[in-house]
Amino acid sequence: MFARFILEFLRHPLNTGAIAPSSRALARAMVHGLDLDQASAVVEYGPGGGAFTGEILARMRPGALFVAIENNAAMYAAFRARHGHVNIVRDSAANVSAVLASLGASQADCIVSGLPWASFGEKLQDELLAATHAALRDGGRFATFAYLQGLLLPAGRAFARKLARCFPEVDRSPVCWRNLPPAFVYRCVK
Ligand SMILES: C[S@@+](CC[C@H](N)C(=O)[O-])C[C@H]1O[C@@H](n2cnc3c(N)ncnc32)[C@H](O)[C@@H]1O
Repeated sequence: MFARFILEFLRHPLNTGAIAPSSRALARAMVHGLDLDQASAVVEYGPGGGAFTGEILARMRPGALFVAIENNAAMYAAFRARHGHVNIVRDSAANVSAVLASLGASQADCIVSGLPWASFGEKLQDELLAATHAALRDGGRFATFAYLQGLLLPAGRAFARKLARCFPEVDRSPVCWRNLPPAFVYRCVK
């Protein structure tokens, strides 16, 4: 998966936003406190090769709905090849409500995002955050990670401010140093 990441980063640097898949340590930090065992519908944005997917699925109860949304053709194909049994749709996370509706769900209990928000412009951040807010039920949880150095970038700081405006509760995890590069998780409740 390393080679695929580097290739996709070279081809689509802003959309991929990373040169390496996330670590197991970051994946565990992502699912911490999400109460996935209580969820009926869970969405993952930008699964890439599936670094977070196994940790999510391991905590969900049988019969609950899971869907991953990936917009990059090569990442989508790589995910399908490795996790053929897992539900994934090739689309933008901006269309999360339509994806849920197509699967018979009105809203999600949890959304776990692998999107590289600090690489996105303001307009795309706004579009994706509005779609996320609309797709999440009241009291639902949203987890998303950020690279530590992203806090130095205007887009990373703008994203942090937008999260605080969008969600009544936003916490930050401790820094996960066992990730390349080091990262932390924003844990939000609607
Ligand atoms: C930083 S990589 C994270 C991959 C994986 N979750 C991980 O942590 O290793 C970002 C992923 O988000 C995908 N992506 C970017 N914009 C997207 C969008 N609007 N909708 C769905 N996926 C998107 C990219 O193609 C890529 O697979």
